[in-house]
Amino acid sequence: MSSSHLYPPPEAAVKGAYVSGIEAYNKLCAEAEADYEGFWARHARDTVTWKKPFTKVLNESGAPFFKWFEDGTLNVSYNCLDRNVERGLGDKTAIIFEADDGKVTKVSYKQLLAQTSQLANALKARGIKKGDRVVIYMSMSVEGVVAMQACARIGATHSVVFGGFSAQSLRDRIEDAGAVAVITADEQLRGGKQLPLKAIVDEALALGGCDSIKNVIVYKRTGGNIAWTAGRDEWLHDVVAGQSTTCEPEWVEAEHPLFLLYTSGSTGKPKGVQHSTGGYLLHAALTTKWTFDLRPDDVFWCTADIGWVTGHTYIAYGPLALGGTEIVFEGVPTYPDAGRFWKMIQDHKVSIFYTAPTAIRSLIKAAEANAAVHPKSYDLKSLRILGSVGEPINPAAWEWYHQHVGGGRCPIVDTFWQTETGGHMITPLPGATTLVPGSCTLPFPGIMAAVVDETGKEVPWGQGGILVVKRPWPSMIRTIWGDPERFKKSYYPEDFKGKYYLAGDGAIRDEKTGYFTITGRIDDVLNVSGHRMGTMEIESALVAHTELVAEAAVVGRPDDTTGEAICAFVVLKRPRPTGDEAKRIAKELRDWVGKEIGPIAKPKDIRFGDNLPKTRSGKIMRRLLRSVAKGETITQDTSTLENPAILDQLSQSN
Ligand code: WTA
Repeated sequence: MSSSHLYPPPEAAVKGAYVSGIEAYNKLCAEAEADYEGFWARHARDTVTWKKPFTKVLNESGAPFFKWFEDGTLNVSYNCLDRNVERGLGDKTAIIFEADDGKVTKVSYKQLLAQTSQLANALKARGIKKGDRVVIYMSMSVEGVVAMQACARIGATHSVVFGGFSAQSLRDRIEDAGAVAVITADEQLRGGKQLPLKAIVDEALALGGCDSIKNVIVYKRTGGNIAWTAGRDEWLHDVVAGQSTTCEPEWVEAEHPLFLLYTSGSTGKPKGVQHSTGGYLLHAALTTKWTFDLRPDDVFWCTADIGWVTGHTYIAYGPLALGGTEIVFEGVPTYPDAGRFWKMIQDHKVSIFYTAPTAIRSLIKAAEANAAVHPKSYDLKSLRILGSVGEPINPAAWEWYHQHVGGGRCPIVDTFWQTETGGHMITPLPGATTLVPGSCTLPFPGIMAAVVDETGKEVPWGQGGILVVKRPWPSMIRTIWGDPERFKKSYYPEDFKGKYYLAGDGAIRDEKTGYFTITGRIDDVLNVSGHRMGTMEIESALVAHTELVAEAAVVGRPDDTTGEAICAFVVLKRPRPTGDEAKRIAKELRDWVGKEIGPIAKPKDIRFGDNLPKTRSGKIMRRLLRSVAKGETITQDTSTLENPAILDQLSQSN
């Protein structure tokens, strides 16, 4: 919930801002309201360089499969690289890379363009062409960004898979996308540890169903020992050696799929969210410009991984499209100690810092325990804007971030958005919006967000409801890869008469200001440390352990650090274990889920019962399980429950 403290934008943030003062914000909104297509067309012309200018703006004839700028052509990599070099920014630093061990490498726009062109040429030489899908399974690196840009350059559709996903998850994504190549690294370095990447690719491909893969390109990061499949595997340094540093971009239609990014939904199978080229780039650039007020001499740092949408929009594309200087960080916030973020802000004079509430909450704990890693022990005066993303930020964490990191002078932009939305949807603008801790405030200009009831009717301010977007917007999801029906059902369900985009979150607007506060997911999706996890996905992974597990139900419960924690209720195919045996099996199941999906999906809490609480008709009572997970006394009506005694069993943690 939001607090009642108000933070008007400080004078220093208003002055010179791209959107300066609330009147400027209101004017943009009014303009979008009065001439929706004209608004977006104007910004699409000003923000993006088109090869062939578009004449059509929005095509709604195939709703909800909307098209934007459909007769225009462009190239994203041209917009992010060549264009900046042509504008005289060739020697400007595009990326400051800081490795896990602290080693810093700076890459200029000219160098980034040359590297991207070489890899693009190498991909083409391997027969990879426009429309092919390329999976990128990489750690945080300049090479990861180059891989994405190189795909964009030749019109190949990339699908980045977060380096923490398991072989099984990687395999599923490769198969679903029908990818022709994988770009990976031998290993990744995080927190001083060497973690496998190539070995997981090998394992994924060996699981079968990936016959479409012809090439595996491997960036040598650690030089660790890896297996090699001749004819399929090649080193990145070998494939780019001798390639020309120029590569004519492939000019693609605005609707051409720039990337797929798999995310969790309310069924077991992750969905391949498909994004466009033109509309996506427009919103990536425009939100970077307005929400972060990114100016030429800023140093921008988004701490997300390129495996998530935040790393796509606010590392790989947005800041580069504006010719900004950004940090790419390989490591973790707690290595070599929990002062790493603050030290990096100090060392690189970071001026805009964008991170997740989970990171802030864990760093608060560390700072309170040890003054040496408290932000006050560092010089953070370079900061001017702070951002938050991925989950609700609780007012206490907001206040700490504001006071101790931002020195009380930096606006915090609490940006609400999703993989599907491509960029910010509801967010303060730092030089315009009065902030309220815990509220993501007001829609980005041109985004028609609203709160409605089950019938799709807008509810009065002050009353909670379902968050929707009333009009299609340029960077929205185009479809779910290979499953248009699921796209319609998930985002434009019939009971909303297919009219509005359904975000999957609940929201409430402040009675007086109309400010939005997100109240959490209304579907079976959890948010753990800002990572989206489907409860059904974890349940499927658990029951896939056919030797042990008969039945499983997964729910979330609030957690002080990670926002939500995963709690699994399991019925085994053997008598309910207790004591050490229960602990041992719980560990086995946790590791199993880690292998099936990835470590981020491991349940924090596993509880065993002889059965699960079910209604007489056999439906699992999740509502009840959520209360049990929270440790609440059950006050709900359990009269429909067939076997009330098992609630006691399920209350015991292992
Ligand atoms: C949640 C991450 C509250 C929300 C960019 C959404 C937030 C889901 C915020 C999308 C925020 C994201 N305040 N909740 N500022 N930002 N969320 O697809 O539940 O990984 O639906 O995209 O995260 O997660 P995703």
